[in-house]
Amino acid sequence: MPQTPTHTDAQTLTRHGVTGSPSAPSCRTDPAGVRFLGWSYNFSINRLTPFMATMQAVQVPEAGGDLEVVDVPVPEPGPNEVRVRVEACGICHSDAFVKDGTFPGIDYPRIPGHEVAGVVDAVGDDVDAWSEGQRVGVGWHGGHCFTCDACREGDFVNCENAQICGISYDGGYAEYMTAPQEAVAAMPDDLPFDEAAPLLCAGITTFNGLRNSDVGPGDLVAVQGIGGLGHLGIQYAASFGCEVAALSTSSDKEELALDLGADHFIDASAVNAAEALQELGGADVILATAPSSAAITSITGGLGRDGSLVIVAVDGEPVQVSPMELIQGRKSVSGWPSGSADDSEDTLDFSALTGIAPMIETYPLAEAADAYDRMIRNDARFRVVLTPGG
Ligand SMILES: NC(=O)c1ccc[n+]([C@@H]2O[C@H](COP(=O)([O-])OP(=O)(O)OC[C@H]3O[C@@H](n4cnc5c(N)ncnc54)[C@H](OP(=O)(O)O)[C@@H]3O)[C@@H](O)[C@H]2O)c1
Ligand SMILES: [Zn+2]
Ligand SMILES: [Zn+2]
Repeated sequence: MPQTPTHTDAQTLTRHGVTGSPSAPSCRTDPAGVRFLGWSYNFSINRLTPFMATMQAVQVPEAGGDLEVVDVPVPEPGPNEVRVRVEACGICHSDAFVKDGTFPGIDYPRIPGHEVAGVVDAVGDDVDAWSEGQRVGVGWHGGHCFTCDACREGDFVNCENAQICGISYDGGYAEYMTAPQEAVAAMPDDLPFDEAAPLLCAGITTFNGLRNSDVGPGDLVAVQGIGGLGHLGIQYAASFGCEVAALSTSSDKEELALDLGADHFIDASAVNAAEALQELGGADVILATAPSSAAITSITGGLGRDGSLVIVAVDGEPVQVSPMELIQGRKSVSGWPSGSADDSEDTLDFSALTGIAPMIETYPLAEAADAYDRMIRNDARFRVVLTPGG
């Protein structure tokens, strides 16, 4: 018979989520397949021995490389870090920064993913705020220093030493990941993991961008680009009581956009979208989510008096706008970064309260490359989500 584990063994087993007899250790046998969690029983020496736990993950081997499925060690949380068992991770268009190597300072190989929903699985030393079993999310903003000027003003997302989940450190295209405890957001119990994941970037960015603009009930909000961000932006703008115009280059999205709460659908591939917005009275806010500066430039003429263009999409090329266009009518152009963990919590809570949820397509980790391609090809309706938790 196996020996009873020592007190220390038992504590460690629990820390790794293994319960029950050590002679029958808990294994995850789902296709994603963490093969073992922390310990194995060695019959030849009749005792428990530590075992290097591995997990399935999807990494980018080098800038411009293909996504590849790999087995890597399960990460251990350092001081002030939590380990998250990833149940779901959305594929955001910004993951192209990692795949293409267009974000400065990325060390490869790198596991992407910053729309992470899961469960705290282990905590490092000095972590008091989180405990095993809590439902949590991690978004783009992946940690801050607390001491720079921005942090001292509580503006954590603009921290001069900010970390980015899936860019500064490995992200959620994996069965497990670790994150600094300040980057972790609590998740309401009633949100399914796969529907919660996209809220951690696509959701927070559109919710936060809109709630920090000065739109109010009855204002005309145009959402340009009906993808992962845009289809949530329509829902948030509608829930704020705004009149919502969806601007899309894909005529087949009309019915879906109207179902999501848009009052108007403007097919930017068929009509002049700026003129169409002026016919509606001019937009109070245009939320630009289409990753094309040329496309954004083409709609600046749709702003109404005191209207503002809120750019969340990223493209290397400049957006052009004429000064006279801005001056006449006091129009403005601004950008919006997603937000920090407390903004994520607001987004998750608001979405749970109002019933706002992303439309998703789910894929196992092993199909991450195909799933990513669906996003890049604009085939996803509307967010592709990886489900390492099965
Ligand atoms: N600011 C932030 O914090 C933040 C956060 C997350 C993402 N982002 C950025 O926001 C952008 C959108 O991300 P996402 O995940 O929503 O992307 P996505 O799911 O790929 O959706 C983008 C949508 O934009 C439209 N589009 C794509 N290419 C276009 C082009 N060349 N011209 C005109 N329209 C085009 C398409 O909508 P239609 O078919 O309807 O035209 C597409 O569905 C990306 O640039 C991403 O990097 C920024
Ligand atoms: Zn800082
Ligand atoms: Zn993102």
